[in-house]
Amino acid sequence: MTTPSSNPPGSVPRHIAIIMDGNGRWARSKGLERLSGHERGAEAVRDCVKGCRELGVEYLTLYAFSTENWQRPKSEVMGLMALLERFVTKELAELNAQGVRVEAIGHITDLPESTQKALRHAIETTAQNNKLTLVLALSYSSRVEIVDAIQEIAREVQAGKLDPSAIDAELLSRHLYTRAYPDPDLLIRTSGEMRLSNFLLWQLSYTEFYITPTLWPDFRKEELLQAVRDFGKRQRRFGGI
Ligand code: IPE
Ligand code: IPE
Ligand code: MG
Repeated sequence: MTTPSSNPPGSVPRHIAIIMDGNGRWARSKGLERLSGHERGAEAVRDCVKGCRELGVEYLTLYAFSTENWQRPKSEVMGLMALLERFVTKELAELNAQGVRVEAIGHITDLPESTQKALRHAIETTAQNNKLTLVLALSYSSRVEIVDAIQEIAREVQAGKLDPSAIDAELLSRHLYTRAYPDPDLLIRTSGEMRLSNFLLWQLSYTEFYITPTLWPDFRKEELLQAVRDFGKRQRRFGGI
């Protein structure tokens, strides 16, 4: 069980999750196309991965594309998929050199075939790395994740392998896409929105939040350090006193 003493002053989060928001607004403020904002956002990703590596963060989960984002114009969606494909291909050598293991959560099979292929290649190539696990949330919906878990559990009950009375929070956690990761200690959301937008609803139950007006393409290592310093001053109580 997690206790307040698990966050001594100045400690570094084991797991940081980020809602990378504001690419479109960044582009608009510069009179550019939305896709230029996403391109610049990829630089912020590179910087944050480096920052997390240097800090000794073990897990970095990035909300890169939500299930709801499929509703956007086709040109933006396809531009984002192409960008993701370029990113995992071009950054692979560097990620590997830094000891970063790439993983993904969400309905990955929704992505275009070539994007899936590039992603699978990055995941396989970096599978043995153990410095930082970079989890990309793609075609991800927290509600769908919970529903998927419940379906899996229901099938086990139906098959007579599981007694309903054995279902508890721990068991549900073990059926989520995130089963191999600890819950995030720190959630960062850029561009100032005060909402979760269907991201890790279950896993963020006791996570500390850092919400900044900075737009994602402008988010750099310095502000990541600021967020971590801020986290180091929080007193986490987990319902205790
Ligand atoms: C975040 O930036 C990137 C994705 C959701 C893929 P947005 O594209 O949501 O940028 P804003 O919120 O419109 O500024
Ligand atoms: C959340 O941002 C999804 C990602 C960052 C991938 P959105 O821009 O989609 O969220 P809303 O629409 O502002 O809630
Ligand atoms: Mg947005």
